[in-house]
Amino acid sequence: MKKIVVTGGAGFIGSALVRALVNAGEQSPSAIDVIDNLSSGRESNLQEVRDRVNLHRLDIRDGGAIASAIRGADVVYHLAAIPSVPRSIDEPLLSHEVNIDGTFQVFRAAAQGGVRRVVYAASSSAYGDSEVLPKVETMVPNPKSPYAAQKLMGEHYASVFHSCFGLETVSLRFFNVFGPRQDPSSPYSGVLSLFMKHLLAGTAPTIFGDGEQSRDFTYVEDVAGLCVKAAHAHGVAGKMYNAGNGGCYTLNFIWDLMQKMEGVKITPLFGPPREGDVRHSMADTRSAAAELQHAPRVSFEEGLRKTLAWYRTALAVA
Ligand code: UD1
Repeated sequence: MKKIVVTGGAGFIGSALVRALVNAGEQSPSAIDVIDNLSSGRESNLQEVRDRVNLHRLDIRDGGAIASAIRGADVVYHLAAIPSVPRSIDEPLLSHEVNIDGTFQVFRAAAQGGVRRVVYAASSSAYGDSEVLPKVETMVPNPKSPYAAQKLMGEHYASVFHSCFGLETVSLRFFNVFGPRQDPSSPYSGVLSLFMKHLLAGTAPTIFGDGEQSRDFTYVEDVAGLCVKAAHAHGVAGKMYNAGNGGCYTLNFIWDLMQKMEGVKITPLFGPPREGDVRHSMADTRSAAAELQHAPRVSFEEGLRKTLAWYRTALAVA
């Protein structure tokens, strides 16, 4: 039975990946080891699959502690991080320690523990502001925030752990992932989770800047599916791919769309542009399609509907 480890597996994206792995392995049930310090992840995110998961409440910065949980795994999906641009500006040391030092510890434990492959959650923020869209993997990165620089450093570590230590690694640059279970309770929460919360409460969200910035919002289950493909594809070790949808939506457009879906009219507030913010983001998905057989299944609008339905239930019981 092959061992699978998911760091950050109790988080929003990590728990979606765990569910995808459990569903994919229905014929031959295998346990999944989740490493999570529950700083932003929650055990309740794993509710439906809890009996198939060994939850190790560990911090990825603690190399000694995570080594035994990682040793002997076939695949490690490394998603644990402090995933926020503004938080990396407010707390640069903490996010550096988790996103760079912690990532190093995961790669080191994997290389020493005989792991076959690590799939690393990199970030579209590494591109910064490019002159052309879509953003393609061959572009020179141009990080605009500590978070972007940290995630890019993780890619470099992935690549050198492959070339120097023979560890198979694949980096996936996640493009603004959204979907059920994204926690809207922090000021650092992803914008769509905050929009959902305001929409259902009938209150005005704050849009930073003019709202004409755009993002390639990508549904969480599509990202989880791509992670699994990246773990098994041939000829991809040491490489990096975009994990996006190929779309591009402005915040103003999305807030309008959400109001129409809900049949309400709420004028948003506008605040100053956020430091470190990228203006436009849109993935070129051709490499992931050709080499990882990536084919997103959920359109942005459909993902938005599914997500809204989930928040309607979750926020009603909260
Ligand atoms: C960035 C990365 C993304 C990464 C994520 C981790 C880019 C293009 N994307 O997302 O790959 O996974 O960090 O968190 O760099 N906003 C508002 N009002 C709010 C909150 C946010 O207007 O209440 C705006 C932000 O200023 C930004 C956009 O919404 O322009 C998206 O913000 P957010 O959801 O935090 O994600 P990014 O910073 O784009």
